[in-house]
Amino acid sequence: MKKNLFINVILALTFICISATIAHKTLRSAFKKDFLIGAAINASQIEEKNDAEATLLREQFSAITPENIMKAEVIHPGWDRYNFTLADKIIALGEKNHMVVNGHTLIWHSQLPLFARQIQQADSFRTYFTEHINTIASRYKGKIYSWDVVNEALNEDGTMRKSVFLEKLGNDFVTEAFRLAEKASPGTELYYNDYNNEQPKKREGCINLIKKIQDAGVRIDGVGIQGHWQKGKVPLKEIEESILAYHALGLKVMITELDIEMLPRNFDGADVANRQASNPALNPYAAGIPDQLLQDQATDYANLFKLFLKHRDKITRVTFWGMHDGQSWLNGWPIRGRTNYPLLFDRAFSPKPAFHAIMALK
Ligand code: G3I
Repeated sequence: MKKNLFINVILALTFICISATIAHKTLRSAFKKDFLIGAAINASQIEEKNDAEATLLREQFSAITPENIMKAEVIHPGWDRYNFTLADKIIALGEKNHMVVNGHTLIWHSQLPLFARQIQQADSFRTYFTEHINTIASRYKGKIYSWDVVNEALNEDGTMRKSVFLEKLGNDFVTEAFRLAEKASPGTELYYNDYNNEQPKKREGCINLIKKIQDAGVRIDGVGIQGHWQKGKVPLKEIEESILAYHALGLKVMITELDIEMLPRNFDGADVANRQASNPALNPYAAGIPDQLLQDQATDYANLFKLFLKHRDKITRVTFWGMHDGQSWLNGWPIRGRTNYPLLFDRAFSPKPAFHAIMALK
């Protein structure tokens, strides 16, 4: 009798373990109760041109961000000309796969169309700015979960970046952008997004920017810490301090562009204007990367996710800047034509040690 009971208990425990493993075999299911797991996707992935990629996206991720196609140069190429084809498709893809869509991005100094860069008069530039936000945000009202309303408005020392927006519209352009976005798309969450805003000086600037928006009585819901970090140099202490500081302002925190770079470079951050000259010595793993380095990367990712889980009440989304290594922007920046390994899935879409290290936390 006792023996039967023992066997039944063992069987029940085995069943529970197997069920848990099956339930947690994907990122989106493993972290379902913690935060959304997102990926930035490119045009071909939005159009599901590759079946294996489409499956990877659907199974592993619960949120998507367009990597480029909602940026001004693509979506608003001429004064009266908008191109919504791919933006409409990403919204449809999100609906189909039950993934929320984060719009990236309404206001950014980079990837601006030529016509916008050539506007001379401040009044005309203000009209462009207003029309751009109104037209795009209102089109996706009720369909898009969140907007990166303003992207990368700060310098590393926390001062305002000398962008065309600052030059033509003055210091209040960030607040104004949030005011317009709120009006055009009232139900959508509105975020400020930047890289290195976990670093003390830039964080201070980011806090001032947020307070300015709040003091003006304008809604801001969250702050995105992009998370372009490098192997062995992930600033865990600064990230934790920043999560706490932004949360203390009443904001949601999200990690919006996560990757852990494996190749050398001589500066930090993600300013797309920074580049280095090509040199074969700076592309050491073109034919494959030693497993030890992938294990080190897995440790970095595990430490990060331990921190994210510790603050799961403050973090609402963790988005990777790409689904797999073959797609990453870090193969082309800051040096063109390199072979980088920054994400959780490899070039054959197979899970890497970093994937298993994260899943082992659940
Ligand atoms: O679309 C053109 C294509 O017509 C042309 O033939 C081709 C030749 O180079 O270039 C294509 O444009 C490229 C574009 O991506 C779309 O693929 C640009 O050269 C390339 O510079 C651009 O890079 C993007 C970068 O932003 C530019 O600012 C990356 O894919 C994208 O991952 C990156 O994303 C940014 C975030 O938006 C903001 N935070 C930093 C992050 C990484 O830089």
